[in-house]
Amino acid sequence: MNILVLGSGGREHTICWKIAQSPKCNRLFAAPGNAGTSQIATNLNLLVTDFIAIKDAVISNHIDMVIVGPEDPLVLGIHDYFLNDASLSHISVIGPQKEAAQLEGSKAYAKAFMKRHNIPTASYRSFTSHTVEEGKNYLKSIPPPYVLKADGLAAGKGVMILNNLEDAVQELEAMLIDAKFGDASSKVVIEGFLDGIELSCFVLTDGTSYKVLPTAKDYKRIGEGDTGLNTGGMGAVSPALFVDDSFTQKIHERIIVPTIKGLSIDKIPFVGFIFIGLIKVNDDPYVIEYNVRMGDPETQVVFPRIKSDLVDLFQATSSQRLKDFHLEIDSSVTTTVVAVSEGYPEAYSKGKVISGLDQKALIFHAGTKLSQNKVLTNGGRVLAVTSQDESMQQALAACYNTLNNIRFQGINFRKDIGFDL
Ligand code: AMP
Ligand code: GLY
Repeated sequence: MNILVLGSGGREHTICWKIAQSPKCNRLFAAPGNAGTSQIATNLNLLVTDFIAIKDAVISNHIDMVIVGPEDPLVLGIHDYFLNDASLSHISVIGPQKEAAQLEGSKAYAKAFMKRHNIPTASYRSFTSHTVEEGKNYLKSIPPPYVLKADGLAAGKGVMILNNLEDAVQELEAMLIDAKFGDASSKVVIEGFLDGIELSCFVLTDGTSYKVLPTAKDYKRIGEGDTGLNTGGMGAVSPALFVDDSFTQKIHERIIVPTIKGLSIDKIPFVGFIFIGLIKVNDDPYVIEYNVRMGDPETQVVFPRIKSDLVDLFQATSSQRLKDFHLEIDSSVTTTVVAVSEGYPEAYSKGKVISGLDQKALIFHAGTKLSQNKVLTNGGRVLAVTSQDESMQQALAACYNTLNNIRFQGINFRKDIGFDL
C-alpha cells in the first residue's frame, strides 16, 4: 500500500523509518518531511494544515493510508475532512476526528472528560474574560504554586506555573484580557499543583480495543538538571524506568481503561494514538494532559521498541481489529538525545552545514533540509540520536558517542538525559 506521513519532525522521520521496514509498504511519502525522510520516502512540499493540497497529493499518488504526526491538522479536523469527501472516505487515517482531538485542543474539554469519567487529575476551574474576577478570587483561595493553562493550542507555551499570587493574577489578566496566547487563552484553566515525577504513556486505539505501547520519560527543559525554558523535548528514555508492575496496573485500571470506556460512553470515535502525560504523586498516577498523537521525542524511543510490523498494526487499527493483534515489544532500553540549534528555544539561525551523519547509528532528523547534497539545519530541534541497549547507561553512552562526531555551528545538547532515573 502507499502511505503518507504528515509532519516534518523527528517523530515523523521515526514513523517513516519504521514503516519503511514493512514489506506491506509500497510507496512512502512524507509531507513536508525533512532531509532524513527524503532518504526513505518521497517528500511532498505541502503544509500539514492545507487539506486541499493534501487531498490533491493523496489522490494523485494513490495513497491508501495517512498517518497524522502533529496535532494541528487533527484539531482542525483532517480526519473528518477525509470522511466527508467521497473521493477520500475510503482512505485510512490514523489520528482521531475533530471531536476527540479536543482532548488535546482544549484543556477545559479534557478536564471535563476526566471529571465525568472519574479519571484522576488535578482539581481545576476554568475562567473567561467575563469571569476574570472570579478567577482572581479562586487564585486567592488556593495555595501556590499556581498552574495556569491556556485552554487552546499554544505551541507548547500555554502552561504557566507561578509561585507568587500577584504574578499569577497578572498572568491570568494577560491571558484573558490581553489575549497573550490569542484565541487559545480566551479561556484559562487554573489547576491544583501536583508534585511528582512525570512520565508519558501511549495507547493506540481503534475506538473499542487498544494496545498499550511502552512508556517513556522525556526531558522538556533546555538546561541540565531540568532547568531553563521549556522546549519541545531535549531527550527521552523508554521505558520510564521507575514504573514497576504495581504502578503499571494502577495506570491501566485508573486511567487507560476509564479513558477508553469514557470515549465509548460519550460516543466519541477515536482511531489513533492517545498520549497520556502522567505524574506520579506518592505512588499514584494523575493525568497532567492528553495528547491525541505520539510524542516527540518520545516516538524516537518508543517506536524502535515495537517489533511488530507497523503497517500491520495500523491496518489492524483502521479496520477495528486491534483486539486480535499480537503486539511485540523489545525489552531493551532505548534513549534519544536531541541536538538543537544555538539559541533554541528562543531565536536561532538556520542553514548550518551538518557533518558526521554517516555513522552506524540511529539518527532521526527533525529540523534538517537537503540543499545541493548537503544536509543543513532547518529548525530549532535538529537531530535525535537514538540507541538501544540492555541498560540506560549503555544506550546513552552510545548516543553521546555518536553525537560527539556530529558537527554543526552552534550545536547544543543536554549531557544529562536520564539523570534522574
Ligand atoms: P501540559 O501542557 O498540560 O502538559 O503542561 C506542561 C507542563 O507543565 C507539564 O509537563 C508539567 O511539567 C507541568 N504541569 C502541568 N500541569 C501541572 C500540574 N497540575 N501540576 C504540576 N505541574 C504541572
Ligand atoms: N514531548 C512532548 C510532546 O510531544 O508533547
